[in-house]
Amino acid sequence: MSGVQGTRVALVTGGARGIGRACALTLARAGLDICLVDLLEPEMAATSREIEALGRRVVAHHADVSDHARAKTVVDAARDALGRLDVLVNNAGKPQPKGILEIGEADFDRTIAVNLKGCFNYIQAAAPIMIAQGGGRIVSISSLNAHSGGVTAAVSRFAYASAKAGILGMTRALAKELGPHILINAICPGLIQTEVNGNIVIRERGDQIARNGIALARVGVPDDIAELVRFLATSEPCFITGQDFVVDGFQFQV
Ligand SMILES: NC(=O)c1ccc[n+]([C@@H]2O[C@H](COP(=O)([O-])OP(=O)(O)OC[C@H]3O[C@@H](n4cnc5c(N)ncnc54)[C@H](O)[C@@H]3O)[C@@H](O)[C@H]2O)c1
Repeated sequence: MSGVQGTRVALVTGGARGIGRACALTLARAGLDICLVDLLEPEMAATSREIEALGRRVVAHHADVSDHARAKTVVDAARDALGRLDVLVNNAGKPQPKGILEIGEADFDRTIAVNLKGCFNYIQAAAPIMIAQGGGRIVSISSLNAHSGGVTAAVSRFAYASAKAGILGMTRALAKELGPHILINAICPGLIQTEVNGNIVIRERGDQIARNGIALARVGVPDDIAELVRFLATSEPCFITGQDFVVDGFQFQV
């Protein structure tokens, strides 16, 4: 991305809160203008104000990442409003606590649609723009669950793990298909303190897991993920593509 004309632009799905908000703010601090995509209007407005306070431009779109047609509209609108599109962070995701014996077809389809198809939707919309500009970076947020299968009785079970493992296959295949123009990688967070699980897993088991099951003896915070996103999205030169990185403080009680 060296030789870029104008300020670089990043689109962050699920950017209103949690890990996505941290990614958006970290990329804004790194000098990028930001497009947020989310379903939570008040949280997205608050994060937008934080980005503006950093002196960066921001646009916000209320959109469900599982909507394929809407993804193209949003991505094109972001490029038109901010002038470019250099970085895509596929972060929007949703847990699925039901197991194989209780889940219905609709819940399974929805879990795949948000966590996996959402990545396809935004990559397919963003890639032609990035290629026309001479390159780009994509980082998708998978999960430690893709490797471990998840925690027994945790918030997310096999359907979520299936979708998150799908992101890893998509990342490897698209690294070949989109290289050398676009670098694409995935991050697999372990237990991270955010709104989605702060009230469930971390409140009930966070201290115990941190003490007995994480080498670095704490659960993660969103900035632990955002810092690696920043590196993968902006470092020059970069010879890394098609990879996934576990960021979990070495969580061995999974
Ligand atoms: N927190 C963890 O421990 C953890 C661990 C591994 C992976 N992850 C993954 O990290 C990502 C962010 O998680 P988080 O912990 O910050 O969760 P979060 O719920 O705090 O944030 C997720 C954001 O995505 C948005 N979102 C959800 N579904 C959407 C949809 N269909 N369309 C648009 N936006 C949507 C939500 O509104 C929310 O703002 C997710 O993909 C999650 O699966 C989280």
